Amino acid sequence: MQLSGASPVMLIGFMLCRLGATEVQGLRNPPNRIAVVGAGIGGTSAAYFLRQKFGQHVQIDIFENGEIGGRLSVIEINGNHYEAGGSVIHPLNLHMKSFIQELGLNALPLHRNLVDIYNGDEFVFQESEWYLINVIKRIWNYGLSFFRMHMWVEDILEKFMRIYQYQNLDYSFSSIDSMFHAIGGNDYITKLNGTLGEDMQKSGFSQRFIDEMVVPSLRGNYGQGAKVNSFVGAVSLACADSGLWAVEGGNKLVCTGLLSASKAQLVRGTVISVQERVRPTKSGDTVKLYEVNYETDKGPTLDMYDIVIIATPLIKEIGNIKFLGFEPPIETVSKPFHQIVATFVHGQINTSFFGCPKPCQFSVSEISTTDRSNLFFNSIGPVYPVKPTTESEISKASDIKVWKIYSSEHLTDEQLRRLFESYDAVIVKDWLAFPKYSPPEKLPPVILHHDIYYVNGIEGTASGMEMSAVSAKNVALLSYHRWYGKDGQIDQQDLVERLKSEL
Ligand SMILES: Cc1cc2nc3c(=O)[nH]c(=O)nc-3n(C[C@H](O)[C@H](O)[C@H](O)COP(=O)(O)OP(=O)(O)OC[C@H]3O[C@@H](n4cnc5c(N)ncnc54)[C@H](O)[C@@H]3O)c2cc1C
Ligand SMILES: *[C@@H]1O[C@H](CO)[C@@H](O)[C@H](O)[C@H]1NC(C)=O
Ligand SMILES: *[C@@H]1O[C@H](CO)[C@@H](O)[C@H](O)[C@H]1NC(C)=O
Repeated sequence: MQLSGASPVMLIGFMLCRLGATEVQGLRNPPNRIAVVGAGIGGTSAAYFLRQKFGQHVQIDIFENGEIGGRLSVIEINGNHYEAGGSVIHPLNLHMKSFIQELGLNALPLHRNLVDIYNGDEFVFQESEWYLINVIKRIWNYGLSFFRMHMWVEDILEKFMRIYQYQNLDYSFSSIDSMFHAIGGNDYITKLNGTLGEDMQKSGFSQRFIDEMVVPSLRGNYGQGAKVNSFVGAVSLACADSGLWAVEGGNKLVCTGLLSASKAQLVRGTVISVQERVRPTKSGDTVKLYEVNYETDKGPTLDMYDIVIIATPLIKEIGNIKFLGFEPPIETVSKPFHQIVATFVHGQINTSFFGCPKPCQFSVSEISTTDRSNLFFNSIGPVYPVKPTTESEISKASDIKVWKIYSSEHLTDEQLRRLFESYDAVIVKDWLAFPKYSPPEKLPPVILHHDIYYVNGIEGTASGMEMSAVSAKNVALLSYHRWYGKDGQIDQQDLVERLKSEL
């Protein structure tokens, strides 16, 4: 349209027309009912963002067959509670940060444990309480690798922060690939394509540094080694940053908080299947709806929904939801998940196990292990209650503490007796925790069907509370824009440039 010679009146008329057009577009009726499957951080934050987008009238039902919080949960040992699943939140996890602000919860700064790296025979690295000593030790052992690693991680995470700006401006992505491409182009997608080990080698890190410093972090956080993709590697290495926190009272409080803030209705039951149904409307048209079949303690039931959000991993052992009668069939097969057993022990650690007879020279703290260690566990370290404890309470505490051990198999009594001089309480929690990472990562779709969306596909890049929240917000925005045909808010690939020029 030519506007150069237009009078002000025509201009106003033009703008009104434009307004009229968007209004017409907006005439599509809002959805009546939305189903969210899973009340972990992914499902509850999805409900929260859906409520923000679709307004107060839509009914949101959230299905949960276990505990609210899912992989966020606490265990009790000798009267104190400890995080049993997802525990550490990074200072740059902006969604988690704003959730606690909006819900009136408190952040609990985490006590930073000193890190020791054990290779099965000896400690290859021991952190000191003295900052300067650490700097000297690191340079002595690994040259400038630590600083370079920090920059390498920061580069990946800093780019990832762009997603918050996109989401604030209401942009969404129809696939994880498209999201990662918008964040950092093809270079960024290659972070999902190659292994962390290869990538770091190419960037000039020595094999020794990778084995002794990088792999133990991955083993401690994800139970896997240098063969994971580079992105999850960076997420794991960022756990060495300062300023880590958790939610006072337990991270799962965010889920219960979001659930009530979203005014979603909790349905206690197991979703068994989803299928498409065509229904006549009052006006004589037809409308397509999704029939969600679920099982409660009163027996099998079903309900109809306009939009369905799947916020659980779709693997045989967990989600196991059947999508019936879709043509082409909905492909949901995700990668197998990795088992992590978290064993909590109240007792006194056996320092001789680590080659240090009593009285021991080092103060045992967080111990991570290398791949060659061939031990029956991945990491062991002291944990602190989800209620605040003062530094003096911690240092006053005797050698007897609560320890958390991560392993891939259940520990035997014999193994526990070797690891501890004495202990009086043991609690075991096993998880199907994360995907087994093996790049190139083939990521599951976000859009499973016209109005069925999948939050947890993002775990194929890296699993974490914030990743689920980022994906939940993306799915809420995407479902909204697709419902109302706002294509301009979907899959824009030049956002970095566009936002720069708008500044
Ligand atoms: C041991 C461990 C340590 C971790 N450490 C960290 C950490 O330090 N920092 C971090 O950020 N992340 C960590 N994570 C990862 C983090 O906990 C997860 O990424 C996050 O909690 C996943 O949330 P989600 O809502 O996407 O999935 P989930 O929490 O798994 O939620 C899915 C929910 O769906 C329910 N459900 C499944 N199928 C059905 C069905 N058919 N019908 C009804 N309900 C169903 C399940 O019961 C579950 O509650 C850790 C995870 C584990 C296991
Ligand atoms: C990543 O790997 C996939 C499959 O191997 C390939 O199709 C794709 O082109 C690769 N992408 C990049 C950016 O290297
Ligand atoms: C401690 O570990 C050492 C070395 O593995 C072992 O010989 C000893 O029996 C353990 N001590 C206890 C009390 O189990």
